[in-house]
Amino acid sequence: MSQHSALSTQHSRVETLRWRGGRLELIDQRLLPGRVEYLACSSAAEVARAIREMAIRGAPAIGCAAACGVALEAARLQRAPPSEFAAGLDQAFAALAASRPTAVNLFWALERMRAALQAVEPAEPAAMAARLLDEAHRILAEDVAANRAMGANGAALLEDGMRVLTHCNAGALATAGHGTALGVIRSAVAAGKQLSVVVDETRPFLQGARLTAWELAQDGIPVTLITDGMSGHLMGRGEIDAVVVGADRVAANGDVANKIGTYMIAVLARRHGIPFYVAAPLSTIDPRLASGDAIPIEEREASEVRGYGGVEWAPAGVAVRNPVFDVTPADLVTALITEKGVVPAPDRGKIAALLR
Ligand code: MRU
Repeated sequence: MSQHSALSTQHSRVETLRWRGGRLELIDQRLLPGRVEYLACSSAAEVARAIREMAIRGAPAIGCAAACGVALEAARLQRAPPSEFAAGLDQAFAALAASRPTAVNLFWALERMRAALQAVEPAEPAAMAARLLDEAHRILAEDVAANRAMGANGAALLEDGMRVLTHCNAGALATAGHGTALGVIRSAVAAGKQLSVVVDETRPFLQGARLTAWELAQDGIPVTLITDGMSGHLMGRGEIDAVVVGADRVAANGDVANKIGTYMIAVLARRHGIPFYVAAPLSTIDPRLASGDAIPIEEREASEVRGYGGVEWAPAGVAVRNPVFDVTPADLVTALITEKGVVPAPDRGKIAALLR
């Protein structure tokens, strides 16, 4: 891995994934904002666990981590006999694919890695491992480039002085660098626009309060934290000028799966005549799913809703639902911001054209 050891994802002040000494290191996002600590992974199983347990999260970041997980496993097995190498990699692909269901970037990245492998087969395991490592680095570099392009495209939609609402974390922490929704905000600020960001705390996992508020503060971008139920009130008072969120999966008709609570914000934004923008790279678009109804929605443990960080405030044993994503119908989306351009009022035809 020496040729790539200097490659990192540092494009804001936040370095989400990096290679160190042949291992993949991830900021352990469960510890933020209290501690910035890296979790080192040496195998696909360790990366799958880091994804499942939310040490790393955010659609593009999950895809990047999964690609690195395959590369790590290949490096680990490169001196094994070819049959053992092939079986080990099959297991690695399966474990990573089972880590989380909603963000399509995970499956997109695994398909890229599978195609890279098939392109060199049959070959010595060491040669295949080298090819997979290259592909993983390419995926990370392309993600950063896509975010920068998306940032440039989306920045034009934000005007000087705007107060922008965002939900969850779609920043550097959720990508290989720069971010999707926060990338648009970062690029607009870099272009000289003064923006302030209102961030929902994002119950139950608190990605807004713990991650977005921290990430924006690192960059010196003004941020105000609210609870999830406050955004309608602020919109009604004329205190929000635009909404920008990321996405975990965009269906062929433009429906958008994103963090639970996004749908409510989109409805409120429409009610108040506020533009609702979704920033997502092409790797987040799933043309195989006709509409948002077909997007698998992850449900996580009840304990996440009963409390946080080991403290439970709900009555023991109370019934809980915990779907962690929702689907915003395409007709509520003012524009989809991608690295290829901005798509106003996305629909099936425009999404198909974008992917051509
Ligand atoms: O459960 P998470 O934290 O992985 O959910 C993340 C989101 O919903 C983000 O908004 C989405 O992945 C876009 S990230 C660029």
